[in-house]
Amino acid sequence: MAGQLQLHALFPCAVATVQLTLEPLHLAQQLQTLFMLRGQCEGNPADGCAWTGDLNGVWQLHQHADFSDLAEVVTQQAWDYLAAVGFESSRVALHLQRCWPVLSDWDQVVGRHCHPNAHLSAVIYLTGRGSGEDGVLRIYDPFHANEIVPGLSVGHGGPIIENHPFNRQYWDLAPQPGLLVLFPSRLEHSVLPNYAAEELRCSISFDFILTASSQNDQAEYLAPHPSSWFELHQR
Ligand SMILES: [Fe+2]
Repeated sequence: MAGQLQLHALFPCAVATVQLTLEPLHLAQQLQTLFMLRGQCEGNPADGCAWTGDLNGVWQLHQHADFSDLAEVVTQQAWDYLAAVGFESSRVALHLQRCWPVLSDWDQVVGRHCHPNAHLSAVIYLTGRGSGEDGVLRIYDPFHANEIVPGLSVGHGGPIIENHPFNRQYWDLAPQPGLLVLFPSRLEHSVLPNYAAEELRCSISFDFILTASSQNDQAEYLAPHPSSWFELHQR
């Protein structure tokens, strides 16, 4: 006799979402500002890639008057995320390192990548229908532990095919105005094509870094606070 076989879904990945309220007139102003910042560019150098501010000199958007309040709200949510996963706010400093817009015209994408420069990343959507037609954010499973036979997920009779509950390879999020997502920066992600021909997909990305809160409270896993760093120059 044997008990019932139990399958344990292990190793959670903490991706957070929260719906924020955007004031319509302020949102309209923000969108106008983003169009102006994009200027004559329509995409990144490669054809079919969305215009991203970080590659076009627009990577400190949180310092722009139209976006500083939004950055504050997002930063508070980042603190909430850290608290929810167990950080003590008094023992860690949170730094906003980079903040940039992403504008995706029809059929444009953002290729699969991660943010190795950061610890925690966030994206807030200024547009979207909630259907995903205008390009979902796709976050990928970094390690397909249940692909116990390499290649079984590609089909051709494999038993645990793509997106089987025990072989989920990605998670998709459909943009809508005010939707914020926070996730570990090491997670690979992409943006699928914007299939909504008449819609410009607009979002703002944030990269946060965690350090120790002060020189007197050093946790080994955290870098010291940047105020104690010493920049070296070549002679
Ligand atoms: Fe990204």
